[in-house]
Amino acid sequence: VASALVDGFCRRVSYLRVSVTDRCDFRCTYCMGERVQFLPRKDLLSLEELDRLCSAFVDLGVVKLRVTGGEPLVRRDILDFFRAMSRHLRSGALRELTLTTNGSQLARHAEALAACGVRRVNISLDTLDATRFAGLTRRGQLATVLDGIRAARDAGLSVKINTVALKGFTEDELFPLVEWCGREGHDLTLIELMPMGEDGAEDRIAQYLPLADLRARLAERFTLRPSDERTGGPARYMRLAETGQRIGFITPLSHSFCESCNRVRLTCTGALYTCLGKEGAVDLRDVLRAGPDDAALVEAIRSAIARKPRGHDFDYSRGVPQGTISRGMNHTGG
Ligand code: GTP
Ligand code: 5AD
Ligand code: SF4
Repeated sequence: VASALVDGFCRRVSYLRVSVTDRCDFRCTYCMGERVQFLPRKDLLSLEELDRLCSAFVDLGVVKLRVTGGEPLVRRDILDFFRAMSRHLRSGALRELTLTTNGSQLARHAEALAACGVRRVNISLDTLDATRFAGLTRRGQLATVLDGIRAARDAGLSVKINTVALKGFTEDELFPLVEWCGREGHDLTLIELMPMGEDGAEDRIAQYLPLADLRARLAERFTLRPSDERTGGPARYMRLAETGQRIGFITPLSHSFCESCNRVRLTCTGALYTCLGKEGAVDLRDVLRAGPDDAALVEAIRSAIARKPRGHDFDYSRGVPQGTISRGMNHTGG
């Protein structure tokens, strides 16, 4: 086994997020424009290429692999990819194989995902109101996603709901979501809106809502107990004393977590982003296609990680969201 991946700030990289497609069946207003242009299919890595790349990372010490998109479950051969990656779970090299999804295709895939060793799934859901859901996602149907969530539970998966905080929107959604998650036994994580993507950039600035505001609202009804539980991602957790439920807070703008960053991202075209909130990427596709020998690939990965930036430029200390990134969220899946 090759030695582990460590960056220039002594952070160990053990978590790979791989975006398997930039496509999505939704058009969430804060993520994409209505007439978004997706990459031509020929630019995507094949399943074999994705497998080779991810396996190289696993050999280098990655123990957590999260599949993202776009919407990962709209990629046609996606279950073959999960099946292929499950061999790293069985060998003990991977500790967790998981995904972040909008839930639209979960009803038909949940069982097969569980059979591949997936134990936990993070599902994006910003409202429990069907009309508001249709408006926000432009193409999604709340009922379909709720069916998907039920199917995930029935398949034995634990569910974490991801909710992006949107000013003038999430204030009204917070208590219904908390109560529903409490009843259903789902974790809930609130995420600060990041200024990413060109289409609708001004709206993302205007809609930014610091999580301190939602936390203050929660504190009006519940006793919040800080918790040092971690799930391997950037969330910091609190427990509601009254119900025992866990709520995560992901605060890239108001409170950076970069000093403990353990992750890098691969796009569906083989670009390696060592920081979500920075523009630069290293192209691994050409290295991959240059030949079957992994030595050059390993070298390219190591040298990219050695140059991983200290942190993103997202910031709210001046009372306005800063650190805008032109790349859309659907290229790296968050
Ligand atoms: P767990 O395994 O449940 O801890 O998941 P996770 O939080 O790592 O994954 P998930 O896909 O649920 O991530 C939630 C969101 O957190 C992502 O969509 C991003 O918006 C944000 N996020 C994750 N990692 C980073 C990061 O390194 N930097 C920034 N700025 N945001 C991140
Ligand atoms: N800022 C924060 N989160 C975002 N997501 C999509 N766009 C943004 C953004 N600009 C979220 C989705 C999903 C996760 C993958 O990223 O809602 O939960
Ligand atoms: Fe699709 Fe997720 Fe973007 Fe919504 S946030 S459009 S579900 S990739």
